[in-house]
This record gives sequence, C-alpha cells and structure tokens, in this order.
Amino acid sequence: MATPEYYTLEGGDRMPRIGFGTWQASDEVLERSVEAALAAGYRHFDTARAYENEAALGRALRRWIGEDTTRRQHLFIVTKLPPGGNRPELVAEYFEASMKDLGLEYVDLYLMHTPFAFVHVPGDLHPKNPDGTMRVDHSTDLLSVWKSICKLKESGRARHVGVSNVNAEQLRRLCAVQKPACLQVEVHALCQQPALVAEARELGVPIVAYSPLGSKALADALAEKTGREYPDLLKLPIVQRIAQAHDRTPAQVLLRHTLQRGLAAIPKSTNPDRIKQNITLWDFELSASEMSELAALDRGEQGRICDFSFFLGIDKHPEFPFKK
Ligand SMILES: NC(=O)c1ccc[n+]([C@@H]2O[C@H](COP(=O)([O-])OP(=O)(O)OC[C@H]3O[C@@H](n4cnc5c(N)ncnc54)[C@H](OP(=O)(O)O)[C@@H]3O)[C@@H](O)[C@H]2O)c1
Repeated sequence: MATPEYYTLEGGDRMPRIGFGTWQASDEVLERSVEAALAAGYRHFDTARAYENEAALGRALRRWIGEDTTRRQHLFIVTKLPPGGNRPELVAEYFEASMKDLGLEYVDLYLMHTPFAFVHVPGDLHPKNPDGTMRVDHSTDLLSVWKSICKLKESGRARHVGVSNVNAEQLRRLCAVQKPACLQVEVHALCQQPALVAEARELGVPIVAYSPLGSKALADALAEKTGREYPDLLKLPIVQRIAQAHDRTPAQVLLRHTLQRGLAAIPKSTNPDRIKQNITLWDFELSASEMSELAALDRGEQGRICDFSFFLGIDKHPEFPFKK
C-alpha cells in the first residue's frame, strides 16, 4: 500500500506527514531555513511559544504568502501553549501572544506543549528558583486546561487542537473530554513507543514524531551534563547499511521508517541540502525485513532523549508523563 503524504483531519483539512521542525535555531538562521524549506516543498511548520521564534517563522511565512493570500491555505502551521500557560484562565492570553508574533489570522493546529506546568511569570517562559530548579505549578488541572484549549476552536483561529508529551493514560483522559486532533511525541528508531502508537491508533489520534533523527544537539548537551551516552542514530550500523542498499542517507532511512509505521515526522535542519533530503522520501520503500531490523533497534524508555530532565525538579509534577 502506498505511504500517504497527509493525515486527513476532521473537516477534511490535510496535515502533511513531513513537517519542518524549528527548535533551537536563531532567528536569522531560521528565516533562511524556512525559505529553503518552502522552496523544497515543506508546507507543515512546527513551532512553539517556548522556542521563542514564532516572530521569525511568521516573517518568513508571510514573505512567502506575499500578496497572494490564497497561498495561506496550502500551509499547515503548528504552535504550542507553553508550560507556564497551563491554567484554563491563561490559555487565551498565551494563544493571542503566539498569534501576534506569528502575524497570521489562524493556526492550523494549537497544541498543549506538556501536561506538566510551570508557575505563570509574565515575561519568563522558564521560571526558576534560586537553586536552579523550575518553579513548578503542582496544581495543574489537565482536563480544565484541555477544555480551555478546545474552546479556541470556536473562533476558527485555531482550526484544530491537540496535545504533546502526554502518556497513554493521559491521552485516554483527554479523549473522554474531546479527542485531540494530534499527539506530538518523541518517536525515532531508539524510542519507538509501540504501545503509545497502538493506543493512539485505537483512539483515532494521529501521531507526529518529534526528534525523528535523534535530536543531536539536545543529546550532546545532555551527554555533557549527565555523562550518559546517547548513540548517534545516523551512525547506527543497521541504519547505515540500509541507507547504502537504497543509495539514500541514514536520515532518509530513519524518516522513511517513521512514515512506513504510519506516522508523521517533523525533522529540523538548517542546512539546505539536508532540508531537501528530509522531504525526498516518497520514491523508495523499505522492505518488510528492513522494517523488522529497524523495529528491533527500539530501546523503550531507555531510548528517550527529551525526558525534560533539563527542567530540574519537573519529574515531581503530578502530571509528569514519563516512567522512570
Ligand atoms: N513537542 C515537543 O516537546 C518537542 C520536543 C522536541 C522537538 N520538537 C519539534 O520537533 C522538531 C525536530 O526535533 P529536534 O529538532 O529535536 O531534532 P531532530 O529533527 O531529530 O534532529 C535535528 C538534528 O539533526 C540534524 N539533521 C537534520 N537533517 C539531517 C540529515 N539529513 N542528515 C544529518 N543530520 C541531519 C540537524 O542538524 P542540521 O541543522 O545541521 O542539519 C540537527 O542537529 C523540533 O525542531 C521541534 O519543532 C517538539
């Protein structure tokens, strides 16, 4: 069966299965990268209030739209409510701030970035205590926040709403209120999340894989801090061998693996050649035995990179999603 290029969402909107990640790029680099991505054919762009780059992304997108307002409908733009906004009465305010920076009339998808929360401190998205731990808001009412996010759809300025970084139990609770249009979570060869993928599929919630190439910058930063080793996904011998067999790059193999599992992915790159590579994925196919070899690379919870340990003390939050 052909690998679909889109998820079809409620109402018929289409979310391209390859999107462009924007985390950890300076404004100038990001604007150039977004131009390269648009030229390469990306139409799905992922940002977040917490990335502090919505204005740069908005500038690049608005330049591309230019005078031809019909172009907007071909884009799929995603941004996220930061952890400091996880209180029902703050959702609209944070949404408006994102809309102002993006300079767009609507976003295609608005996500709850994390189920855990920081204390809301105006002007500080990552508030810390003097000892370096995060100022955690332990009183989060996940379902009330979700209901407030769902209300954003009424104005039409958030066409769809969804969640990120929740576990299966939290996803079930959210679905009992309203089904999220999407679940964005870490998924790659070493962290394949088969149980969560199966649960989301059963609930009818499409998954978008973040850090699909192993988020090297984050892995390197964590390795330096903790001494833990993070294997480079692109250098795994199985991935390299399969890449050679198809005359493709390791990144293309990893992304194709994600697509053939029926998921979407949002790789980030600031390099024009790699940006093109990461969306040139529909003219080759991994065999069933290659898919099995790649499936066997899964390390379960040990393979997770973005475990939010960089937010000191966040694992004490009652809605912290990951098992130790
Ligand atoms: N919801 C969440 O909590 C959450 C968390 C993490 C990420 N995200 C989203 O997911 C996006 C992607 O994840 P990520 O940025 O963590 O990491 P990623 O996409 O897994 O990896 C990015 C790294 O891979 C390199 N790279 C990209 N294409 C490559 C290629 N073809 N060959 C070799 N290296 C390549 C990039 O370097 P170059 O730039 O030099 O190419 C960069 O160092 C983020 O940007 C963000 O939008 C969401």
